[in-house]
Amino acid sequence: MTRTVYVNGDYVPEDQASVSVFDRGFLMADGVYEVVSVLGGKLIDFDGHMVRLKRSLSELAIDNPLSDEDYLAAHRDLVARNDITDGLVYLQVTRGNPGDRDFAYPPAGTRPTVVMFTQSKPGLADAPAAKTGWTVVSVEDLRWGRRDIKTVQLLYPSMAKMEAKARGADDAWMVEDGRVTEGTSNNAYIVKGNRIITRELSHDILHGITRAAVLRFAREAQMQVEERSFTIAEAQEADEAFITSASAFVMPVVSIDGAQVGSGAVGPVARRLREIYLEESLKTAV
Ligand code: PDD
Repeated sequence: MTRTVYVNGDYVPEDQASVSVFDRGFLMADGVYEVVSVLGGKLIDFDGHMVRLKRSLSELAIDNPLSDEDYLAAHRDLVARNDITDGLVYLQVTRGNPGDRDFAYPPAGTRPTVVMFTQSKPGLADAPAAKTGWTVVSVEDLRWGRRDIKTVQLLYPSMAKMEAKARGADDAWMVEDGRVTEGTSNNAYIVKGNRIITRELSHDILHGITRAAVLRFAREAQMQVEERSFTIAEAQEADEAFITSASAFVMPVVSIDGAQVGSGAVGPVARRLREIYLEESLKTAV
Protein backbone atom coordinates (compact mmCIF):
# COMPACT_ATOMS: atom_id res chain seq x y z
CA MET A 1 0.00 0.00 0.00
CA THR A 2 1.32 3.43 -0.88
CA ARG A 3 1.44 5.70 2.11
CA THR A 4 -0.39 8.96 2.17
CA VAL A 5 1.79 11.74 3.51
CA TYR A 6 1.07 15.34 4.52
CA VAL A 7 2.89 18.20 2.80
CA ASN A 8 1.89 21.78 3.60
CA GLY A 9 -1.80 21.03 4.05
CA ASP A 10 -2.15 18.47 1.25
CA TYR A 11 -2.50 14.72 1.60
CA VAL A 12 -0.56 13.09 -1.24
CA PRO A 13 0.74 9.64 -2.20
CA GLU A 14 4.32 9.33 -0.93
CA ASP A 15 5.79 9.05 -4.45
CA GLN A 16 4.25 12.41 -5.34
CA ALA A 17 5.28 14.23 -2.15
CA SER A 18 8.07 16.75 -2.61
CA VAL A 19 9.84 19.67 -0.99
CA SER A 20 12.03 22.25 -2.74
CA VAL A 21 15.80 21.72 -3.02
CA PHE A 22 16.04 25.26 -1.58
CA ASP A 23 14.19 24.28 1.57
CA ARG A 24 16.31 25.25 4.58
CA GLY A 25 15.54 21.92 6.18
CA PHE A 26 17.40 20.26 3.30
CA LEU A 27 20.24 22.78 2.91
CA MET A 28 20.87 23.80 6.53
CA ALA A 29 19.13 21.21 8.76
CA ASP A 30 17.08 24.28 9.72
CA GLY A 31 14.07 22.47 11.09
CA VAL A 32 12.62 20.67 14.05
CA TYR A 33 10.66 17.47 14.44
CA GLU A 34 8.52 15.36 16.73
CA VAL A 35 7.77 11.65 16.84
CA VAL A 36 4.45 10.63 18.40
CA SER A 37 3.73 6.96 18.94
CA VAL A 38 0.40 5.38 18.03
CA LEU A 39 -1.06 2.50 20.01
CA GLY A 40 -4.43 1.02 19.16
CA GLY A 41 -4.95 3.85 16.67
CA LYS A 42 -4.48 6.54 19.35
CA LEU A 43 -1.76 9.14 19.87
CA ILE A 44 0.41 8.77 22.98
CA ASP A 45 1.49 11.87 24.99
CA PHE A 46 0.29 14.11 22.16
CA ASP A 47 -0.02 17.31 24.24
CA GLY A 48 3.52 17.00 25.56
CA HIS A 49 4.93 16.64 22.05
CA MET A 50 3.04 19.76 20.92
CA VAL A 51 4.38 21.78 23.85
CA ARG A 52 7.94 20.74 22.96
CA LEU A 53 7.39 21.41 19.23
CA LYS A 54 6.33 24.99 20.00
CA ARG A 55 9.32 25.47 22.30
CA SER A 56 11.75 24.15 19.66
CA LEU A 57 10.23 26.47 17.02
CA SER A 58 10.32 29.46 19.31
CA GLU A 59 13.97 28.85 20.36
CA LEU A 60 14.88 28.99 16.64
CA ALA A 61 12.50 31.87 15.82
CA ILE A 62 10.62 29.77 13.26
CA ASP A 63 6.97 30.80 12.96
CA ASN A 64 4.58 28.11 14.08
CA PRO A 65 2.44 27.64 10.99
CA LEU A 66 -0.41 25.61 12.52
CA SER A 67 -2.62 25.58 15.59
CA ASP A 68 -2.64 22.67 18.05
CA GLU A 69 -6.04 21.71 16.63
CA ASP A 70 -4.62 21.61 13.08
CA TYR A 71 -1.71 19.43 14.18
CA LEU A 72 -4.06 17.07 16.00
CA ALA A 73 -6.45 16.85 13.06
CA ALA A 74 -3.57 16.13 10.65
CA HIS A 75 -2.13 13.44 12.96
CA ARG A 76 -5.53 11.78 13.23
CA ASP A 77 -6.16 12.05 9.49
CA LEU A 78 -2.85 10.41 8.67
CA VAL A 79 -3.43 7.59 11.17
CA ALA A 80 -6.86 6.95 9.63
CA ARG A 81 -5.83 7.32 5.97
CA ASN A 82 -2.89 4.92 6.46
CA ASP A 83 -4.84 2.53 8.64
CA ILE A 84 -2.27 2.65 11.44
CA THR A 85 -3.03 0.59 14.53
CA ASP A 86 0.44 0.69 16.09
CA GLY A 87 3.28 2.83 14.83
CA LEU A 88 4.52 6.40 14.70
CA VAL A 89 3.66 9.77 13.27
CA TYR A 90 6.70 11.82 12.24
CA LEU A 91 6.24 15.60 11.99
CA GLN A 92 8.84 18.03 10.66
CA VAL A 93 8.63 21.81 10.45
CA THR A 94 11.40 23.71 8.64
CA ARG A 95 12.08 27.41 8.10
CA GLY A 96 10.86 26.87 4.56
CA ASN A 97 12.02 27.74 1.08
CA PRO A 98 13.48 31.24 0.59
CA GLY A 99 14.07 30.47 -3.12
CA ASP A 100 17.87 30.53 -2.83
CA ARG A 101 20.70 29.47 -0.52
CA ASP A 102 21.69 32.10 2.01
CA PHE A 103 23.06 31.92 5.57
CA ALA A 104 20.78 34.77 6.64
CA TYR A 105 17.28 33.73 7.63
CA PRO A 106 14.69 34.35 4.93
CA PRO A 107 12.46 37.43 5.06
CA ALA A 108 9.53 37.48 7.46
CA GLY A 109 6.53 35.88 5.87
CA THR A 110 8.45 32.98 4.29
CA ARG A 111 6.15 30.05 4.89
CA PRO A 112 7.56 27.23 7.03
CA THR A 113 7.38 23.76 5.47
CA VAL A 114 5.31 21.15 7.30
CA VAL A 115 5.72 17.48 6.45
CA MET A 116 4.15 14.54 8.25
CA PHE A 117 4.16 10.81 7.61
CA THR A 118 3.35 7.57 9.40
CA GLN A 119 5.36 4.42 10.03
CA SER A 120 3.39 1.28 10.74
CA LYS A 121 4.85 -0.91 13.51
CA PRO A 122 2.39 -3.64 14.41
CA GLY A 123 2.83 -4.82 18.01
CA LEU A 124 4.98 -1.79 18.90
CA ALA A 125 4.21 -2.12 22.62
CA ASP A 126 5.16 -5.82 22.63
CA ALA A 127 8.67 -5.44 21.21
CA PRO A 128 10.54 -8.68 21.98
CA ALA A 129 13.61 -6.62 22.97
CA ALA A 130 11.75 -5.38 26.07
CA LYS A 131 12.03 -8.93 27.47
CA THR A 132 15.76 -9.33 26.87
CA GLY A 133 16.97 -5.71 27.02
CA TRP A 134 19.37 -3.70 24.90
CA THR A 135 23.14 -3.65 24.96
CA VAL A 136 24.80 -0.24 24.69
CA VAL A 137 28.33 1.05 24.15
CA SER A 138 29.67 4.47 25.05
CA VAL A 139 30.81 7.06 22.52
CA GLU A 140 31.97 10.65 22.91
CA ASP A 141 29.10 13.16 22.59
CA LEU A 142 30.13 15.33 19.65
CA ARG A 143 26.80 17.12 19.07
CA TRP A 144 26.17 20.87 19.24
CA GLY A 145 25.36 22.81 22.41
CA ARG A 146 21.57 23.09 22.13
CA ARG A 147 20.44 19.48 22.34
CA ASP A 148 17.29 20.62 24.13
CA ILE A 149 15.99 21.82 20.74
CA LYS A 150 14.68 18.87 18.74
CA THR A 151 16.37 19.76 15.46
CA VAL A 152 16.73 17.50 12.43
CA GLN A 153 20.56 17.64 12.65
CA LEU A 154 20.79 13.92 13.37
CA LEU A 155 24.05 13.07 11.62
CA TYR A 156 26.10 12.55 14.76
CA PRO A 157 23.45 10.42 16.54
CA SER A 158 23.21 8.42 13.33
CA MET A 159 27.02 7.94 13.25
CA ALA A 160 26.90 6.88 16.91
CA LYS A 161 24.15 4.35 16.14
CA MET A 162 26.28 2.90 13.33
CA GLU A 163 29.29 2.68 15.64
CA ALA A 164 27.14 0.85 18.19
CA LYS A 165 26.00 -1.62 15.54
CA ALA A 166 29.57 -2.12 14.30
CA ARG A 167 30.55 -2.94 17.90
CA GLY A 168 27.69 -5.46 18.15
CA ALA A 169 25.44 -3.33 20.37
CA ASP A 170 21.89 -2.04 20.06
CA ASP A 171 22.60 1.60 20.83
CA ALA A 172 25.20 4.09 22.08
CA TRP A 173 25.21 6.20 25.21
CA MET A 174 26.94 9.50 24.56
CA VAL A 175 29.43 10.79 27.10
CA GLU A 176 30.64 14.35 27.67
CA ASP A 177 33.26 15.34 30.27
CA GLY A 178 33.15 11.76 31.52
CA ARG A 179 29.38 11.77 32.18
CA VAL A 180 26.54 10.22 30.19
CA THR A 181 24.35 12.72 28.39
CA GLU A 182 21.78 10.46 26.67
CA GLY A 183 21.30 7.68 24.11
CA THR A 184 21.39 8.33 20.36
CA SER A 185 17.61 8.89 20.34
CA ASN A 186 16.54 8.35 23.94
CA ASN A 187 17.14 9.41 27.55
CA ALA A 188 19.37 7.28 29.78
CA TYR A 189 18.75 6.07 33.36
CA ILE A 190 20.30 3.86 36.01
CA VAL A 191 18.64 2.28 39.05
CA LYS A 192 20.21 1.79 42.49
CA GLY A 193 17.92 0.16 45.01
CA ASN A 194 14.76 2.26 45.03
CA ARG A 195 16.43 5.23 43.30
CA ILE A 196 16.13 6.12 39.65
CA ILE A 197 18.97 8.33 38.47
CA THR A 198 18.83 10.34 35.24
CA ARG A 199 20.64 13.44 34.02
CA GLU A 200 19.04 16.76 34.97
CA LEU A 201 17.40 18.90 32.28
CA SER A 202 19.64 21.49 30.62
CA HIS A 203 20.84 22.43 27.13
CA ASP A 204 22.87 19.18 27.16
CA ILE A 205 19.99 16.76 26.54
CA LEU A 206 16.63 16.55 24.88
CA HIS A 207 13.81 17.06 27.37
CA GLY A 208 12.11 13.75 26.67
CA ILE A 209 8.34 13.67 26.78
CA THR A 210 8.49 10.00 27.81
CA ARG A 211 11.07 10.98 30.46
CA ALA A 212 8.69 13.51 32.03
CA ALA A 213 5.84 10.97 32.16
CA VAL A 214 8.00 8.11 33.47
CA LEU A 215 9.52 10.25 36.25
CA ARG A 216 6.02 11.37 37.26
CA PHE A 217 4.76 7.78 37.39
CA ALA A 218 7.88 6.67 39.29
CA ARG A 219 7.32 9.33 41.95
CA GLU A 220 3.65 8.39 42.19
CA ALA A 221 4.75 4.77 42.74
CA GLN A 222 6.90 5.98 45.69
CA MET A 223 10.20 5.46 43.88
CA GLN A 224 12.91 8.04 44.50
CA VAL A 225 14.06 10.10 41.55
CA GLU A 226 17.51 11.71 41.49
CA GLU A 227 18.11 14.06 38.57
CA ARG A 228 21.89 14.14 38.17
CA SER A 229 24.49 12.94 35.73
CA PHE A 230 26.40 9.66 36.12
CA THR A 231 29.47 8.01 34.65
CA ILE A 232 29.71 4.82 32.60
CA ALA A 233 31.54 3.16 35.53
CA GLU A 234 28.66 4.03 37.87
CA ALA A 235 26.14 2.72 35.34
CA GLN A 236 28.05 -0.56 35.00
CA GLU A 237 27.83 -0.97 38.81
CA ALA A 238 24.10 -0.11 38.96
CA ASP A 239 21.33 -2.62 39.70
CA GLU A 240 19.56 -1.79 36.44
CA ALA A 241 19.69 0.58 33.51
CA PHE A 242 17.13 1.61 30.93
CA ILE A 243 16.25 4.20 28.30
CA THR A 244 13.03 5.99 27.39
CA SER A 245 11.69 7.40 24.14
CA ALA A 246 8.43 7.78 22.27
CA SER A 247 9.20 4.79 20.07
CA ALA A 248 10.83 2.43 22.61
CA PHE A 249 8.77 3.55 25.67
CA VAL A 250 10.83 2.11 28.58
CA MET A 251 13.54 -0.23 27.28
CA PRO A 252 15.83 -2.09 29.69
CA VAL A 253 19.61 -1.94 29.14
CA VAL A 254 21.42 -5.09 30.27
CA SER A 255 25.00 -4.43 29.23
CA ILE A 256 27.21 -1.33 28.91
CA ASP A 257 30.55 -1.48 27.07
CA GLY A 258 30.49 -5.26 27.44
CA ALA A 259 29.91 -5.22 31.23
CA GLN A 260 26.69 -6.82 32.42
CA VAL A 261 24.39 -4.51 34.41
CA GLY A 262 23.03 -6.14 37.58
CA SER A 263 22.09 -9.73 36.84
CA GLY A 264 22.34 -9.15 33.09
CA ALA A 265 18.61 -9.76 32.76
CA VAL A 266 15.72 -7.27 32.65
CA GLY A 267 15.23 -5.92 36.17
CA PRO A 268 12.00 -5.38 38.12
CA VAL A 269 12.13 -1.55 38.11
CA ALA A 270 12.46 -1.19 34.33
CA ARG A 271 9.84 -3.91 33.80
CA ARG A 272 7.40 -2.22 36.20
CA LEU A 273 7.98 1.27 34.77
CA ARG A 274 7.34 -0.01 31.27
CA GLU A 275 4.06 -1.57 32.41
CA ILE A 276 2.98 1.58 34.26
CA TYR A 277 3.96 3.86 31.37
CA LEU A 278 2.03 1.83 28.79
CA GLU A 279 -1.01 1.48 31.05
CA GLU A 280 -1.16 5.14 32.11
CA SER A 281 -0.30 6.72 28.76
CA LEU A 282 -3.01 4.69 27.04
CA LYS A 283 -5.53 6.28 29.43
CA THR A 284 -4.70 9.77 28.11
CA ALA A 285 -4.15 8.72 24.48
CA VAL A 286 -6.08 10.76 21.92
N1 PDD B 1 13.94 10.58 19.64
N2 PDD B 1 16.96 12.14 23.43
C1 PDD B 1 17.12 12.20 22.10
C2 PDD B 1 18.44 12.66 21.58
C3 PDD B 1 16.07 11.86 21.24
O1 PDD B 1 16.23 11.94 19.90
C4 PDD B 1 14.84 11.41 21.78
C5 PDD B 1 13.66 11.05 20.92
C6 PDD B 1 14.72 11.33 23.19
C7 PDD B 1 13.45 10.89 23.87
O2 PDD B 1 12.44 11.88 23.74
P1 PDD B 1 10.89 11.46 23.74
O3 PDD B 1 10.66 10.67 24.98
O4 PDD B 1 10.20 12.75 23.76
O5 PDD B 1 10.69 10.63 22.50
C8 PDD B 1 15.79 11.72 23.98
C9 PDD B 1 12.86 10.24 18.74
C10 PDD B 1 11.99 9.13 19.24
C11 PDD B 1 13.43 9.96 17.35
O6 PDD B 1 14.34 10.70 17.00
O7 PDD B 1 12.97 9.06 16.65
